[in-house]
Amino acid sequence: MINKKLIEEKLSKVIYPGFTKSISDFGFVKDISATNNRIDIYLDIPSSAPEIEAQLHEEIHKRISLLGDLEINIFIAKPKIPKETSSHGKNVLPAIQNFIMISSGKGGVGKSTTSVNLAIALAQQGKRVGLLDLDIYGPNIPRMMGIEGKQPVFLGNKIKPIVAHNVQVMSIGSLVERGASLIWKGAMVTQAIEQMLEDILWNKLDILLFDMPPGTGDAQLALAQNLPVTAGICVTTPQKVALDDTVRSMDMFTQLHIPIAGIVENMSGFICPDSGKKYDIFGKGTTKPLAENYHTEILGEIPIEPAIREGGDSGLPITVLAPQCETSKRYQTIAAKIWEIALKINEEGGANNEKIQPTIF
Ligand SMILES: Nc1ncnc2c1ncn2[C@@H]1O[C@H](COP(=O)(O)OP(=O)(O)OP(=O)(O)O)[C@@H](O)[C@H]1O
Ligand SMILES: [Mg+2]
Repeated sequence: MINKKLIEEKLSKVIYPGFTKSISDFGFVKDISATNNRIDIYLDIPSSAPEIEAQLHEEIHKRISLLGDLEINIFIAKPKIPKETSSHGKNVLPAIQNFIMISSGKGGVGKSTTSVNLAIALAQQGKRVGLLDLDIYGPNIPRMMGIEGKQPVFLGNKIKPIVAHNVQVMSIGSLVERGASLIWKGAMVTQAIEQMLEDILWNKLDILLFDMPPGTGDAQLALAQNLPVTAGICVTTPQKVALDDTVRSMDMFTQLHIPIAGIVENMSGFICPDSGKKYDIFGKGTTKPLAENYHTEILGEIPIEPAIREGGDSGLPITVLAPQCETSKRYQTIAAKIWEIALKINEEGGANNEKIQPTIF
C-alpha cells in the first residue's frame, strides 16, 4: 500500500537542479496525496525556467516509479515573471546600486579573502562599498577586516554597519558571541538573511559585496529571492576537485538568472620568494575551459602568498598593507573589471533574477 511517508522518502532524494539540496530540504514540497494508485504531488519552486520543471518531472517520475505502477501527477507552482527585468524598479535596498555575490562550490578556496581585498580595492578606487558577510556557518569577515569583537551600533532595532578600511561592513559574526557554533536549519538561514537585509542601515552604496558560505544552499537562494543580484563571481582554485564544485556554483548562478561576472582563480601558483620561480601547487590551465564553457572570463589570478594569509589573520589585508605590490595590483585590476561589468549589466537593463518569489499555493 502506497502511503505519503514512502513518497516523502523518495522525494527527499530529488535534488533541486543546480543545487546540492533536495526539494524536501528546501521546503518546496507543499502537499502530497496518495489514493489507490494515484499520487498527486504539489511543489512550489522559485524558478520559472521550463528546463527546471522538466528536470523535476523526470527525476520525480523516476523515483516514484520505483514504488510500482502508479499514476503520478505533479503540480508545480512557479513565480510569475515580472515584465520589467531592470534591477532598479525592484530593488528593496534602493540606496544600493549594485549587488555582487561572491560564491564557490567548495569551502576554503578563498572567498572571504577575495571579498575583503576586492571590497578594499573598490573603495581605493573611490567607490562607496559595503561588505556583508553571509557566511552564517563560519563568519570570518570581522577578523579579516580587523573589527573582531567590535559591537555595531543599534538604532532602535536597526543596525549600523561598522566602517573598516573605508568599507561599510556587517557580519552575522558581529552579532553573535565569538566562536559560537552556528548550526542553523534551512528556514532559519533564510529568515536570518531576510532580517539582515531589512535591518542594516547602509549609507548610500555604489556596490555591496556578499561573502557567501560555501556551496549552493539556502543562503544563495535566499539572497536571490530577496534582491536583484547584479552579478556573481566564482572563486576557485585550479585544483580539479575544486573545479567540480565550481561547475555547480556556475550552474546555480545560471539557474537563479544571475549574470556571471567571471572567475577569480585563487591560490594560482606559488612564487618562491627566494628564487622567484613559480610552482603550480594546485595545477594549471583548468579554469580557462570552464570560463569559456559559461561564456565568461577569468577576472584574475591570485597566487598563494604568505602575506595574503597574514593580512587576513591580522585584520590588515594585503591591499591595505602593501597597495603597491603585484598581488594588490591584481586585486585592483579585478575590482576595476567588476565595476565595468556591473556598469555594463546595468546599461543592458540590469540583473534579471527578478526578485524570485515563491508563489503560495
Ligand atoms: N592566495 C592566498 N594565499 C595564501 N593564503 C590564502 C590565499 N587565499 C586564501 N588564503 C588563506 O586560506 C584560508 C582560507 O581562505 P578563506 O577563508 O578566504 O576561504 P573561504 O573560501 O572563504 O573559506 P570558507 O568556505 O570556510 O568560507 C585562509 O586562512 C586564508 O588566509
Ligand atoms: Mg569564507
